[in-house]
Amino acid sequence: MKKNRLFFERASPTRNIDLHKDIVLYLENITVSFDGFKALDNLSLYVNKNELRCIIGPNGAGKTTMMDIITGKTRPDKGTAWLGQNFNLLLHSEDEIARAGVGRKFQKPTIFENLTIFENLELALDSDKGVFQTLFAQLTSQQKETIEIALETINLADNAKECAGLLSHGQKQWLEIGMLLVQNSQLLLIDEPAAGMTHQEIDKTAELLMSLKKSHTIIVVEHDMDFVKSLESPVTVLHQGSVLAEGSMKSIQDNPKVVEVYLGELYD
Ligand SMILES: Nc1ncnc2c1ncn2[C@@H]1O[C@H](COP(=O)(O)OP(=O)(O)O)[C@@H](O)[C@H]1O
Ligand SMILES: [Mg+2]
Repeated sequence: MKKNRLFFERASPTRNIDLHKDIVLYLENITVSFDGFKALDNLSLYVNKNELRCIIGPNGAGKTTMMDIITGKTRPDKGTAWLGQNFNLLLHSEDEIARAGVGRKFQKPTIFENLTIFENLELALDSDKGVFQTLFAQLTSQQKETIEIALETINLADNAKECAGLLSHGQKQWLEIGMLLVQNSQLLLIDEPAAGMTHQEIDKTAELLMSLKKSHTIIVVEHDMDFVKSLESPVTVLHQGSVLAEGSMKSIQDNPKVVEVYLGELYD
């Protein structure tokens, strides 16, 4: 506890943070400019362990850039970014950040369509090795178990031997989430999971993400407001590179500023 206090006093002299909460992601005063244009402008965001946080906001608000900062793909001009208490995201490479437990799922699935679902998970387990090496190596019983647990979690245990290319769009998205799980990612960054899914798949995805909260911290960027509502989680609204509002979906929907810049246009 003493260590936490020291860290927060140093990093955040002005903010009144609840030190009892276990913060996994700590972004403060992050600014990123592209040719003089501020894609992120003094952005601060705190996400607690086992929290599911939805990020919404109009196109160009800075959602993807924020993910890029967390994963080390883009470096800010100024600001602070920590994973937990000890890992300064700004001092590590993308690979190191991934190995530290940050997993990102892009909107477009990046699975191997010609391999089975099981094989895709096997490859994700040790992505440093080549495809050939991985598929012909003997799995340890622990590795097998890791894959089997992921298959159960993403509801694809019955399809394990099927070719991944045959999966529906929604199932491919779940497989990608499974790939993050076997990589032992603790903080999951998920970009627009509901896009292109059927209603049924959207409902199942909401269930999946809510069940993952028990063991993971999850940040979801999403445009589908019904989906966001169904996640029953805190929402952060980004606008012009900063946080415009934060709170329950209900408080966000009732917030006139949010309606003006974002929700109004979605519901009109
Ligand atoms: N590499 C880049 N070079 C120049 N401008 C960029 C770059 N990446 C993002 N931007 C700009 O930064 C702003 C925020 O973009 P982005 O983070 O993609 O927003 P969102 O994901 O919320 O739609 C946009 O105006 C976008 O055009
Ligand atoms: Mg984006």
